[in-house]
Amino acid sequence: MKDLQNIKQRFGIIGNHEGLNRSIDIAAQVAPTDLSVLITGESGTGKEIFPQVIHNYSARKHGQYIAVNCGAIPEGTIDSELFGHEKGSFTGANESRKGYFEVADGGTIFLDEVAELPLSTQVRLLRVLETGEFIRVGSSKVQKTNVRVIAASNIDVPRAIDNGKFREDLFYRLNTVPIRIPALRERGEDIFLLFRKFAVDFAEKYRMPAIRLDSEAKYILLNYSWPGNVRQLKNITEQISIIEGEREIIGLTLRNYLPDYGSVKLPAVIKRDDEKSFSSERELLYKILFDMKSDMNDLKKLVFDLISRGDIDVTLQNGNSQVINNLFREANEDNVGSHGNEPQPTGFSTHQTRKDIQDTEEIFEESLSLSDNEMEMIKKALEKYKGKRKLAANELGISERTLYRKIKEYEIES
Ligand SMILES: Nc1ncnc2c1ncn2[C@@H]1O[C@H](COP(=O)(O)OP(=O)(O)OP(=O)(O)O)[C@@H](O)[C@H]1O
Ligand SMILES: [Mg+2]
Repeated sequence: MKDLQNIKQRFGIIGNHEGLNRSIDIAAQVAPTDLSVLITGESGTGKEIFPQVIHNYSARKHGQYIAVNCGAIPEGTIDSELFGHEKGSFTGANESRKGYFEVADGGTIFLDEVAELPLSTQVRLLRVLETGEFIRVGSSKVQKTNVRVIAASNIDVPRAIDNGKFREDLFYRLNTVPIRIPALRERGEDIFLLFRKFAVDFAEKYRMPAIRLDSEAKYILLNYSWPGNVRQLKNITEQISIIEGEREIIGLTLRNYLPDYGSVKLPAVIKRDDEKSFSSERELLYKILFDMKSDMNDLKKLVFDLISRGDIDVTLQNGNSQVINNLFREANEDNVGSHGNEPQPTGFSTHQTRKDIQDTEEIFEESLSLSDNEMEMIKKALEKYKGKRKLAANELGISERTLYRKIKEYEIES
């Protein structure tokens, strides 16, 4: 635990999220060994500090630490960069040159964006990992080196394997100890600690008071999806610090720096092409309401049956008679057919005042008139667009096909 705080302080890692703590803890545990480590996590989650933690807590800390961004080196020169080359081995190779694996003998190499390595380089890497052997480009002499490899990737390596872009054997060799860095949106309240730290740092850098967030802005900060993670948070904190005159940042201001805010963290509506698909959230809500209505009708019928058969005793003390009367009337209209005079279910009396039942009745009426409302809305939309279904459907937020079905269902003339 003490170690954890020390590491955070020494390497400037902010946050107390359990997943982040676990990652730091694994890094500290694995540091004294020579095991390969693969660090994964979305872009901007803070992967780059981890190989430094591992190197500095290992016996190799006085050896070389070399960080290589595999994605930034052209394919034609990467083998030479990593493993060196002999003089004259390719055009422009005027001198022989040591590669990183030779230079870092006794130290640590961090291979960032390792999934970007060409397949041929992956073969060389696997060999050096397994045997410590490598060959300079243009040479036939096998050399030995003692390097610890730490790799990182912000892409899904197993998927790269499926796509034939990454060797499975190399993945297992690198992934001896996996460390996963959680995305910022998973870290909850850590985001406020990070924001405050960045706000204070930039205030110092630009010699101005630190920005603060009002409660709405805090809410936005917590609920945004942060696709660029800590890097994105740091960048916008810097931008806002410089651009905004006002030091208290309100929600609306913050939103301006998050152009896709609002399109994220909503429940996803899965689109499919079959009849049951929902063309919009509105349709989904309609579906839920209609399902509820249908359930309620089933319940009403059940209660009506029970009352009719005398299976339940509805001696009313608290004013449900009107409701039951309605229930009886509706179920009767739906199912039983008219017998001329209204039949009464047994077992209850109707000497109740309307006042007693108003609340219940209101709820019933509102929800039960939904289909009428829907029919009205459809009629209005069709009228407005002079029968043009496409435009009407668009306004209603439903698909043309659904509109067509509803027109038939409600027998609307159009
Ligand atoms: N927990 C943290 N505390 C303080 N600063 C952090 C933290 N995590 C990340 N940062 C900062 O966020 C920025 C991005 O981190 P880093 O470069 O390590 O991301 P990355 O995971 O390597 O992303 P990519 O996959 O895109 O290379 C850096 O400036 C880093 O200092
Ligand atoms: Mg990085």
